Amino acid sequence: MRLFKKVLAVSVASMCALSLAACGGGSKTAETTAAASSESKDESKAAESVSEAVAATGKDVKDIKVGISIYKFDDNFMTLYRNELVRYLTEDIGIPKENVMVQDGKNDQAEQTNQINNFIATKVDVMILNLVQSSSAPTVTDLAKEAGIPVVYINREPDEAEESRWAADGISATYVGADARQSGTFQGEEIAELENKGDINGDGTVKYIMIQGDPENIDAQYRTEYSVKALTEKSGLKAEQLLIQRGDWDQAKGQQIAQDALTQYGNDIEVIFCNNDAMALGALQAINAAGRKVGEDIYIVGVDALAEAVQNVSEGKMTGTVFNDFISQAQAAAKAAVSFAGGEKVDTKIPVDYVKVTKDNAAEILELSLIHISEPTRPY
Ligand code: BGC
Repeated sequence: MRLFKKVLAVSVASMCALSLAACGGGSKTAETTAAASSESKDESKAAESVSEAVAATGKDVKDIKVGISIYKFDDNFMTLYRNELVRYLTEDIGIPKENVMVQDGKNDQAEQTNQINNFIATKVDVMILNLVQSSSAPTVTDLAKEAGIPVVYINREPDEAEESRWAADGISATYVGADARQSGTFQGEEIAELENKGDINGDGTVKYIMIQGDPENIDAQYRTEYSVKALTEKSGLKAEQLLIQRGDWDQAKGQQIAQDALTQYGNDIEVIFCNNDAMALGALQAINAAGRKVGEDIYIVGVDALAEAVQNVSEGKMTGTVFNDFISQAQAAAKAAVSFAGGEKVDTKIPVDYVKVTKDNAAEILELSLIHISEPTRPY
């Protein structure tokens, strides 16, 4: 048990060091960095109390069983998240690999509900769920509650009414995630902070196309709304939407949408907003194929900070992205799960910040994500 306590505290400290490196980039002030450093002390304290709570129940970390279901394995961002989640639970916290069950929801809610029922039948201590349909949260929460199994929801946020119900009824459920309004705002600011504020032809209106993620994730809606809101508010310019289309977070769809739009609207397109980097990387292929030049006659922003996107940002081939901090999210979700398994109460919402990524801090962010991506691939 003592070993568990030590391992958790050390790993949390190193995670904070990593987060600070990320936050050291252009978009955070000295004040917030100082706040983050005092947060890091709190974090280690939190880790201590997590392990103490597990110890107090007489439960050994080696006995904790976790059931994880990811909405689909075939998603670039959720693959990074999943690998970090399993790595942290097994290597840093010390839960045996065979006690961490990870299922592919295959983008099918019926399939995922079966997996959840199996987790319940196997009597896992806690579930970490990335729902296919966030609207299924009330049903899934009730299933878990009935079985006395706590749930940590990740990535796709259940609605407010559902979250309030957990608090009001004392249900052991929580949501760990970032507020997508912030990522949208950062995208809009990245355009508004350009010298010409995204208005390439100088007519006072920024013409854009919006490539959206699957609306099952509220991130798609918020990023769409808040990117344009921040752009107009910060730049004082008008914005005109030439096209809005669903690319479902998918690179190939992003490419097709951008290709068609570039054919239809040509030089009228000044900005391409993408709800995530996978779609932005697809759109970038279309931009290059059309002979357009990012930073000169078009701008493009994404979200996630996938290594390839950050590399493009650092080389000026993409205007910007936003770090969707899968490392902090995965580690916070794992800690919440272990707290629940130890019988502790957990807040109904655990927020994680986004970080703006522009040419100024792209190298630092890249270094941070490569530390994780370059680790040997594990058979999770
Ligand atoms: C990420 C996307 C991902 C989606 C999955 C979003 O937060 O930005 O890249 O595909 O989550 O739900």
